[in-house]
Amino acid sequence: MPDRIRLDGKVAVVTGAAGIIGTATIHLLAERGARVVAVDRREQDLQTAIKDLPASAQALAITADVTREDEVAEYVRAVLDKFGTVDVFYNNAGIEGDVAPITKYSLETFRRVLDVNVVGVFLGLKHVLPVMLKQNKGSIINTASIAGRIGSPQVAVYSASKHAVIGLTKSAALECTATGVRVNCVCPGLIDSRMLSAIIEGRNPGNAPVPNDKIVERIPARRLGQASEVASVVAFLASDEASYVSGSAYTVDGGRTAS
Ligand SMILES: NC(=O)c1ccc[n+]([C@@H]2O[C@H](COP(=O)([O-])OP(=O)(O)OC[C@H]3O[C@@H](n4cnc5c(N)ncnc54)[C@H](O)[C@@H]3O)[C@@H](O)[C@H]2O)c1
Repeated sequence: MPDRIRLDGKVAVVTGAAGIIGTATIHLLAERGARVVAVDRREQDLQTAIKDLPASAQALAITADVTREDEVAEYVRAVLDKFGTVDVFYNNAGIEGDVAPITKYSLETFRRVLDVNVVGVFLGLKHVLPVMLKQNKGSIINTASIAGRIGSPQVAVYSASKHAVIGLTKSAALECTATGVRVNCVCPGLIDSRMLSAIIEGRNPGNAPVPNDKIVERIPARRLGQASEVASVVAFLASDEASYVSGSAYTVDGGRTAS
């Protein structure tokens, strides 16, 4: 059967592209035929992330901080200068912040987490939506988390920020009523990644590593997810196969939040 989730010729902008999920996604989108713009604040890692992309991706790497409105406006302008359009926007950059109970959580980190995870997503929407609304087409996918659906001890601020991403997603989808622009989000669960390890270690400081069996015991799939499995859902939402999907939060968690 031919692969129906094709993105041939679409211009896809991905933030947090130097991270594990962002990198997996730029590679999958390119494999499906998209041209790719990779955005991250870590310049060196961004270069590594785009290194093996196929020539057909016409990859453009842009170093930018998603919390800086001037830098967001600038990367959108650079994409338009090079490609003339934005068809897909994966608004994905995020940080976990500290791992600590609310009573010990610093206000400075609270503000930083909201700045990246909420203000960053908001600024991306603010500057990409006008481009898509003008052309009356486009697909935006934000990265929330299962921590945006349920509480998560010691990462309460991260959880609050991801609840906000779901709210931004649904509201933006409504603001695109009667247009060809769709806005959705993905809610990854426990993905095999640096971020997950940091959270697990932060909850067990100074103790022996938590055995894998213990980590996965509440996941019906009985394993961690892979970044590529998040990327697959992003590729679907980016594609015309998802033409009737908007305002949704797609959970990619091996069933972790099913009950
Ligand atoms: N890893 C998981 O288990 C998991 C689970 C649920 C949700 N998520 C979410 O998925 C997204 C990607 O996570 P990941 O696991 O790839 O993490 P990661 O740390 O590997 O990647 C995040 C990327 O975002 C970039 N970034 C951070 N702040 C930025 C800023 N101000 N401007 C530009 N870039 C910035 C970082 O440089 C990094 O490359 C995040 O939004 C995260 O919250 C991850």
